[in-house]
Amino acid sequence: MSDAAFVVLEGGDGVGTTTHTKRLFDSLRRSGRAVHATREPSDGPIGVQIRQILSGRLVVPGPTGPRAPDWRTMALLFAADRMDHNDATILPQCGEGTVVLSDRYYHSSVAYQSITGGGAQATVDWVKEINRHARRPDLTLVLDVPDEVSERRRIERRGGRELYDDRGLQSQLAAFYRSMGAHFPGERIVWIDAHRPVEEVAREILEETLRVVGA
Ligand code: TYD
Repeated sequence: MSDAAFVVLEGGDGVGTTTHTKRLFDSLRRSGRAVHATREPSDGPIGVQIRQILSGRLVVPGPTGPRAPDWRTMALLFAADRMDHNDATILPQCGEGTVVLSDRYYHSSVAYQSITGGGAQATVDWVKEINRHARRPDLTLVLDVPDEVSERRRIERRGGRELYDDRGLQSQLAAFYRSMGAHFPGERIVWIDAHRPVEEVAREILEETLRVVGA
C-alpha cells in the first residue's frame, strides 16, 4: 500500500509521455499499488472539446484566421479543463490514497500557451496565474529527446495535422522544457534523457517515482 502522490509526465509532442505514463502505470500496478493514470486535455467535457479544437474537428476562429484560435482562448480552456480535472479525478483519487499519474499538466500550458502567445514575461505570469489553484504535483518528470527524434516520431504517427504540429514551435518548446525549472520554484522536477532504449528510460522513471511514493 502506498501513500497518495500526484506525478506528472511532461515534454514536447513526440517525446514519449503517453508511452511512459502507461509503462509507469503498469509497473506500479504490478507492485500492488493503487494507481490511476489520466491525461490532459482530460476526458471530461472541456477536455473533449479541446481535443476537437486541436484536431480541427471543432473550428474556433481567432484574430489571424478561422482555424487559428487565440492563445488566450486556448489558455482559458486548458485552465478550465484542469480545474474540472482536479475536481473530477485528481483530488478524489489522491484523497483515496491512490498514486495519480497525469500525461501533461499545467507545465504544458505555461509552455505551449505562453510561447504561442509571444513568450513575454507578462504572458507567462498570466498563464501561471490562471492555473494558480490547480494542485501542485509531487513530482514532474520532463522527458527530453533531440528535436530531430521527436520530429520523426510526430511524422510517423501523424493521423492528421494538429494545432501545435509545427517544427519551429516544437523546437522552442523543447528549449523551454529544458530550462523550465525557474518557472516553477519549489517544485520537484526531474529531467529524463528519453533518447535511450525504452526499458532503460522506463526504469529511471520508475526509480524517480519510487523516491516519492516509497519503494
Ligand atoms: P495530445 O494528443 O495528448 O498530444 P501528446 O500525445 O503529444 O501529448 O494533445 C495534447 C496537445 O495539447 C499537445 O500538443 C500539447 C497541447 N497542450 C497545450 O497546449 N496546453 C496544455 O495545457 C495541455 C495540457 C496540452
